[in-house]
Amino acid sequence: MVDDEPRLRRVLVRLLEGEGFTCSEAGSGTEALEMMHHEPVPLVISDLRMPQMDGVTLLREILARWPDTAVTAVAEVESAVACLQLGALDYVAKPFHLDEVRARVMQALDKRRLILENRMYQHQLEERVQEQAHRIEELSLERLQALVHFLEEKDPYTRGHSVRVANYSLGIARQLQLDQEVIDLIALGAELHDIGKIGVSEAVLHKAGKLSDTEYRHIMEHPVIGARILEPLMRDAPGALAIVRSHHERLDGKGFPDGLRGDAIPFEVRVVTVADSFDAMTSVRPYRPALSVQRATQELEDMQGVQFDPRAVAAFLAAFPDRAALPVTAPEARPLHLPARPVEARRT
Ligand SMILES: [Fe+2]
Repeated sequence: MVDDEPRLRRVLVRLLEGEGFTCSEAGSGTEALEMMHHEPVPLVISDLRMPQMDGVTLLREILARWPDTAVTAVAEVESAVACLQLGALDYVAKPFHLDEVRARVMQALDKRRLILENRMYQHQLEERVQEQAHRIEELSLERLQALVHFLEEKDPYTRGHSVRVANYSLGIARQLQLDQEVIDLIALGAELHDIGKIGVSEAVLHKAGKLSDTEYRHIMEHPVIGARILEPLMRDAPGALAIVRSHHERLDGKGFPDGLRGDAIPFEVRVVTVADSFDAMTSVRPYRPALSVQRATQELEDMQGVQFDPRAVAAFLAAFPDRAALPVTAPEARPLHLPARPVEARRT
């Protein structure tokens, strides 16, 4: 209750305390702001004409600093309209009846409660919609994952490849004690890294014997095709998308499709590259038999710092010490997790 006239203030305070409200009193706008600073209140009833700081200035200050405050002006009708335009919830015209004040206070508090509830409801609704959209994206990714498994299953040369690559990648990631969020991204990217092979001709994929330059370039389009397919679904997971696009890059910059070099290749990608290469080497291909685990391990070691990240290679070797038991037979596919993005960030 803000009024420079103590007697008037007392009348209103007594009235509202009689209704069960707790009231604080301020004799000026400055005092009111000081009190709000220590303990904001839901409703401010203020006189308009006061020395030092008038009611309109006080109203502006309060709404700027505590926008959820309901302000009721006690004013002549003419100035009351200006107060409403400035954002006051209501006004009590002078001279006032106590009954009217009581009714207006109730109304103002009700109105404020409705505004707050409405805002909360809207916020919850927005969150819910975001959650649903997120889930739909996850489901779409799971469908694509099923499609990848189906395509690999059809092809004796690639059967179980994605799941094994995901397993090896996870082994490396855990060995390096990466954050769970990064581990999830790696699992997601590794499971889907070769999805772009959908866009590669089967005749080329299954060709026995050496590929021509054109055929090799055609196969090497699959990271770009894959990234294009997944881009709309992986807006929340740029790290996983990078795995799909860049898993054939090499540290020395001689890889595909962008010729990225060294640190320009995200670390998550380098992890999957090691896993992918190991599995490719130890699998039969139409144009060559499988390399032995020893040979493949040797290759990883020899190409450290050239093609492969030494940290990722070391972690792979440490994570799978019993390499004689590799390749790991494919277990059940894991559910995929997209990282949740906060609501605010997704509004852009
Ligand atoms: Fe690939």
